[in-house]
Amino acid sequence: MPPRKGPMRIGALASHGGTNLQAIMDACKRGELNAEVVVVISNNSGATALRRARTEGIPALHLSRAAHPQPDDLDAAICGALARHRVDIVLLAGYMRPVGQATLARYRNCVLNSHPALLPKFGGKGMYGSRVHQAVVAAGEAETGVTIHIVDEQYDHGPRIAQCSIPALPNEGAAALEERVKRRERRFWVETLARVISGEIALPPP
Ligand code: GRF
Repeated sequence: MPPRKGPMRIGALASHGGTNLQAIMDACKRGELNAEVVVVISNNSGATALRRARTEGIPALHLSRAAHPQPDDLDAAICGALARHRVDIVLLAGYMRPVGQATLARYRNCVLNSHPALLPKFGGKGMYGSRVHQAVVAAGEAETGVTIHIVDEQYDHGPRIAQCSIPALPNEGAAALEERVKRRERRFWVETLARVISGEIALPPP
């Protein structure tokens, strides 16, 4: 990440509920993170994440294939919006679409995603939401966790910058496990971002 003066400027991409986004916005408001969420973008006009952003007075944009049927145009629109808001770092907070080439190039090594499992296990295309936790339970894993990684061209693939493990309890169903992991994930985003901001976790140069 290039050197920066003042709070880190976060741009978030989110498709649905945005509970992780909310945890990050709350941590910024509390002063726990020297950062501010400056724009939230969603492919889903009805995403609760957009409503959460508007409630906080944060610009919330719906950018999708509806207005930009060509993937490159959509990518350019997203990248342009992030640049206009002078974003330092991009967070995928439950974003269900691939990130385009222009955005990845402009924010190389500065796009982070969280995944609710211990990657490289239980990741990749089609492994999202409750499917992840169902797979963990079906495999009889003794532990699961949360991974935060740099986003590259492949799903759940880029360098991992932080992981925390969570015990999988015997006889616990996937829904209960998901709830526990998601609770930890919200906190883990904040802890990891604090380490990125302090420099303890150094993102590779762009
Ligand atoms: C999180 O579990 C995250 O790991 C995954 O999508 C979920 C988003 O949840 N990529 P929310 O929208 O923040 O509640």
